[in-house]
Amino acid sequence: MHLLYQPMNTIQATTYPVHFSDKAYQELNLYLKENTYSSIFILVDDNTFECCYPKFIQRLETDLKIELIQIDPGEIHKNLDTCLGVWNVMTELGADRKSLLITLGGGVITDLGGFVASTFKRGIDFINIPTTLLSMVDASVGGKTGVDLGVLKNQIGVFANPQMVIVDPEYLHTLDPREIRSGTAEIIKYGMTHDIRLFNQIKDNTELNIVDLIHRSVEIKNEVVTEDPKEKGLRKVLNWGHTIGHAVESYFLDAEHKENLTHGEAIAIGMVCEAYLSSRILNFPEEKIAEIKNAIVNIYGKIEILPEDINPIMALLIHDKKNEAGIVKFVLLNDYEDFELSCEASEELIRESINFYIN
Ligand code: GLY
Repeated sequence: MHLLYQPMNTIQATTYPVHFSDKAYQELNLYLKENTYSSIFILVDDNTFECCYPKFIQRLETDLKIELIQIDPGEIHKNLDTCLGVWNVMTELGADRKSLLITLGGGVITDLGGFVASTFKRGIDFINIPTTLLSMVDASVGGKTGVDLGVLKNQIGVFANPQMVIVDPEYLHTLDPREIRSGTAEIIKYGMTHDIRLFNQIKDNTELNIVDLIHRSVEIKNEVVTEDPKEKGLRKVLNWGHTIGHAVESYFLDAEHKENLTHGEAIAIGMVCEAYLSSRILNFPEEKIAEIKNAIVNIYGKIEILPEDINPIMALLIHDKKNEAGIVKFVLLNDYEDFELSCEASEELIRESINFYIN
C-alpha cells in the first residue's frame, strides 16, 4: 500500500474536534494556552514511547509541567491492575482535577487512558492521540473507554468523550504492514455499510490516499455515534463483520495450536461469513459475496480454519456478551450501503457461512 498524505479538515464531533496531521499540533498548543490546566500527564506504552513520543514531544509547546507514564504494551495489560498503577503514579506525582491526560498509543492506550482519566477524581480531561490505523479509525472516536476483566473484553468502562482527538498519519510509519492491514479491515467495514468507494479503493489497490480513507472513516463513525452514542440502535452497525469475527478472534487467541490473528484479520473473515448470511437471509447479491471473499483473501491471505474449528467458534459466538437474551444478532446487508441491524440466523446457516469462507 502506498501512503499518500494531504491535509484534511477538522471533523467536529458533538463535544470535541478531531484534528488531522500538522495542523493538529497547532490546535493542541493553542488549546493548552487557552485552558487553565495545572499539569499534563502523557500515557504511552514501551512501543509508543520509543516510536511516537520523540516526535510528539517536539511538537508540544507548553510551559505546563509534563509527566510521562509508561505501561507495558499489549491487550494483556488492558486491565484494572494497570489502571491502579497509573492512578497511583498520578496521585504520587500530584495530579489534580485540573490535570490533563494525553493518551499516545493504540486502542489499549486510548481505551485504558480514557477510562483512567474519566474516573480519576471523578473525571479529568483527556486528549486521544491514536498511533495505529485501527485506533485512528475506531477506538479514539466515539467515547467508549474501558478495560478487560479476565478474558472478557471491555467489560469495565464508561462512555466519556475526549477534549480533542489528534490523527497524525505520520505515526503509521512505525507500524508493520500486518498492523496496517488490521486497521484496513475497519475501513472496509465503513465502506460496505456507508460508502462503497472506500472498499473499492482498497480492493482495486490503486494509489491509496490513506489520510483520505482515515478521514472518511472518522466522518462515518462520527455520524453514527452522534446519532446513537450509547449503542441503543444505529451504533450496532459498527459491528458489521464483528459478530462472527470476534468469535474467530477469541478462538485463535485461546487455541494453543493456533497463531493469534490480528483484530482486522478476524473481522475480515467475519465480513465474508456475514456477507454469506446476508445473501441467504436478505438477498444480498451473490456476485458481491464472491467479490468480498476474493478481495479479503487477496488482502489477508487464506487463513486456515479447519472443519473441527467450527464447533468451538460456534460456542464462543453463542456466549458473546453482545447477545441479547441469549440470541445472536447480526448486522446484515441488503446491499452495499443498505444494512439491517438486528437479524437472526439459524445455527445451521451460521455453520454454512463459516464453511463458505473455508471452501
Ligand atoms: N468499535 C465499535 C464502537 O465504537 O461502537
